[in-house]
Amino acid sequence: MNSTPSNIVIAIDGPAASGKSTLALILAARLGFLYFDTGVMYRAVTLSALDELKGVEDEGLVTALAERIMIDVQPPSKDDGRTMDVLVDGADVTWKIRKPRIDRNVSVVSAYGGVRTAMTEQQRRIGSRGNVVMVGRDIGTVVFPHATYKIYLDASAEERARRRYTERIGRGEEASYDQILADIKYRDGIDSSREIAPLVAAEDAFIINTDGKTIEQVVGESLRILNIKPKNGG
Ligand code: CDP
Repeated sequence: MNSTPSNIVIAIDGPAASGKSTLALILAARLGFLYFDTGVMYRAVTLSALDELKGVEDEGLVTALAERIMIDVQPPSKDDGRTMDVLVDGADVTWKIRKPRIDRNVSVVSAYGGVRTAMTEQQRRIGSRGNVVMVGRDIGTVVFPHATYKIYLDASAEERARRRYTERIGRGEEASYDQILADIKYRDGIDSSREIAPLVAAEDAFIINTDGKTIEQVVGESLRILNIKPKNGG
């Protein structure tokens, strides 16, 4: 394909810390597409539930909260390593949603059917705006089953835990590799076995295992799959 037609949706799904966001950001910048990480929405609902409801166990209350709060995603307003601003009812929660307490609770929240319905609606609305690289667990299977391209990134739990550990240390946060590995395995378990929109590769997705690969290698592999001419000639 030599030109870039409008309304291309590139769906990138995969388990926690498989490198989806990093890949999606690079692809979006190279192609001039919108970057949209849908995980921030489930993280934002989780943060609000922990703060306002003091827990995530009550499905009815969490669902009502998800339907009520206004989650917004904007281009980064600060040069502090963020890839976007995440706002809940106008308040900046960009870093708060990355804390371990969110990691430990988000999979419970994202398994609630009403929460998923509310988030999926918003994701379709944002994704329909134009060319977009969309990251999540169910983009190629549920949110945009007719996405133009589908990539499913995978890697061993140990490799993914190492990446997340390095990320946290890089941000100057305290981190325990063993705890991160346990959290990732716990989250994988819930995300993959939930009844609604479980984490699974779409039948027509290209699967890339990123174990032992550099990000450049994964980007190269993805661009070959997409076969879209990079906007600025690469
Ligand atoms: O960055 P990381 O891979 O650790 O997680 P994330 O993409 O921010 O997603 C956080 C959690 O939100 C996941 O563990 C899923 O439970 C949920 N999620 C989902 O259910 N569906 C999506 N499309 C995106 C995230």
